[in-house]
This record gives sequence, structure tokens and C-alpha cells, in this order.
Amino acid sequence: MKNIYSIIKKAKKYLINNDIIAIPTETVYGLAGNAYSDKSVKKIFLLKKRPFFNPLIVHYVRINDLKKDCYLNDNFKKLYKKFCPGPLTFVLRKKKNSRLSNYVNANQKTVAIRFPNHNIAKKLLQNLDFPLAAPSANMSSKLSAVTASDVREEFKKKISFIIDGGKSEIGVESTIIDLVGKPIILRPGGLEIEKIEKILKIKVKIKLKSKIIRSPGQLAFHYSPGIPVRVNVKTPKKNEAFIQFSKGVNKKNYFYLSQKGNVREAAKNLFSILRLIKKKGYSSVAVSRIPNQGLGLAINDRLKKASNR
Ligand code: TXA
Ligand code: MG
Repeated sequence: MKNIYSIIKKAKKYLINNDIIAIPTETVYGLAGNAYSDKSVKKIFLLKKRPFFNPLIVHYVRINDLKKDCYLNDNFKKLYKKFCPGPLTFVLRKKKNSRLSNYVNANQKTVAIRFPNHNIAKKLLQNLDFPLAAPSANMSSKLSAVTASDVREEFKKKISFIIDGGKSEIGVESTIIDLVGKPIILRPGGLEIEKIEKILKIKVKIKLKSKIIRSPGQLAFHYSPGIPVRVNVKTPKKNEAFIQFSKGVNKKNYFYLSQKGNVREAAKNLFSILRLIKKKGYSSVAVSRIPNQGLGLAINDRLKKASNR
């Protein structure tokens, strides 16, 4: 890889020019643009074919910059101290005088923010005087990208610059917690809910249908590999690709998420294996039962949404 500083310099040029680039993060790759610029943010929505009512996450590296854009409460401070930078996104109240584009948060009173924990993403943010709006770098409703080549596959020539930062360490998107009122999980993801509960010392509810989404039907289907997905399957149909949780039966159409049945490893491989199966030309995929604990919650959430069609 080229010198990181020359990469950051080039990325900065694109971003200052209101162009969109793809960046690596520890969860999945992001499609990044200047969060203060309406022009950049609009471009992100158009590129992804994402409906404008579905808000984006804003990425920061400095807490002092975040303070200009939203109100930080005690729960935020506790979680920030323990888990940031890391795979946790907070929904907070946006300040009226914030410079964030109103497109970023779909004109809501709240905004979703996070501190990514990837060397390149951090270095890039340190060199910018604006935060980055960045949804996952995939076409709306499709599989998220965990490598630079996944991003290229999703967008072809439509993105001029993709920073290659290797395979995303976590492999599923961040956990989203709404802290505006009583804490509530809006999306299980790369940080285990059990760990959050330990810090907040309360049981945190999970609410999968966010209020802000005005037509939930449209978004219930998500993370799709482009072929039908069946979940909790014991025996696959003939010619169907079959994803086992851990390494078991060894057949041509059988795949597995984790060597030893570890949910963290399984999460890291989830999107790449679905992408691989699609590429191999299978017309449907079945998945065995995945334990619903730790990152298993994130895996099951993605698979459930991919199977809703
Ligand atoms: O790991 C991640 O979070 C990745 C990387 C690139 O940071 N980003 C990501 O962004 O997953 P995206 O756009 O694919 O998912 C953002 C989710 C959407 O489901 C959106 O509805 C929700 O965050 N969201 C954004 N702003 C919100 C808000 N103000 N209130 C509630 N939900 C919000
Ligand atoms: Mg996404």
C-alpha cells in the first residue's frame, strides 16, 4: 500500500471538493462525504439510491467537535469513556446551531454519531475540519461491504476513490443506541448489548423498528445478497447453498461462518460468505440456526432482514 499520508492527502482533496469516497472502518466500509455540506450529503443518498428519509451516521475523531453538533448526556459520557472509538453509534439531540447538513439526519431533531476505530479512518478525520457522514458502502438494501473490492463491486466506476484498509475487523455494522430518552437499542451490531448493559447498569430494550422510519415496510428488507435467504434451516434443499454456523459437514454447497462456533468470527465472515455464494451462481441460500447471544444478535438481525422478501 502507498504511504498513508499520500492517501490521506488525496482523500482530503476529494472531500474538500464535495466528492464522495469509500473509507475502511472496523465494522464495514463507509461511503463518506463532508457532513457539513448539503451537496456532499445529497450525493451520498443518490449514489446509494437511499431514500432521503433514512438518516446517516456522522463520524468524528474529536469529542470537542461533537459538542458543537449535539447535546451529550451522562449515559453518553459513560459509554463513550468505555467503548469509543469503537463499534457503537449514539442517537443524540442535535443542536439548533450545529453546522451539520439537515440532509444527514433527515431533518429530525436527533442525529446518529460514532467514533470509528480504524487507523486510516481516524487519521483521515484528524486531518479534516469537518466530520464525515458515512453510511455503509453498499447499494441501498444490499449486502454491506467489508473489503475495498466489495465496494468496487457495488459501485463500479461510480466512486472515484476507495481507500483500501484491509478486511473490516468486525464485519457487521455498529450497534445503535438511542440515548435521547431512556436508552434503547435500535440496531444490534458490533458491540455486544450485554457489555452496554453492564456499564449502564440497566437492562436495555431492543426496538428494531425505528420511529423515524416513516415506511417501515420499505426498510424491513435489507442486507440482501440478491437471492432468497432462508433462516434456521436444518437441512438445505438440493442445489441450495447452505451456511452452517460452525464447520461441520463438508460438501460442495456447504459453507461455514466460524471454524469453532464463535459468534465474533462468524460475524466477521457473514457478509463475505453471502457475497461469495451469490458470485458462485447459487439461486438461493439457507442458513443454520445461529446462537442468539453476543454478536449472534447482529447476525440474526441481518439474516432475518435479508430473508424478508
Ligand atoms: O458501522 C456502521 O455503523 C457503518 C460504518 C460505515 O460506520 N455505518 C452504517 O450506516 O451502518 P448505515 O447508514 O448503513 O446505517 C445507519 C442506520 C440506519 O439504519 C439509520 O436508519 C439509522 O442508522 N439512523 C441514522 N440516524 C438516525 C437517527 N437520528 N435516529 C435513529 N436512527 C438513525
Ligand atoms: Mg447500511
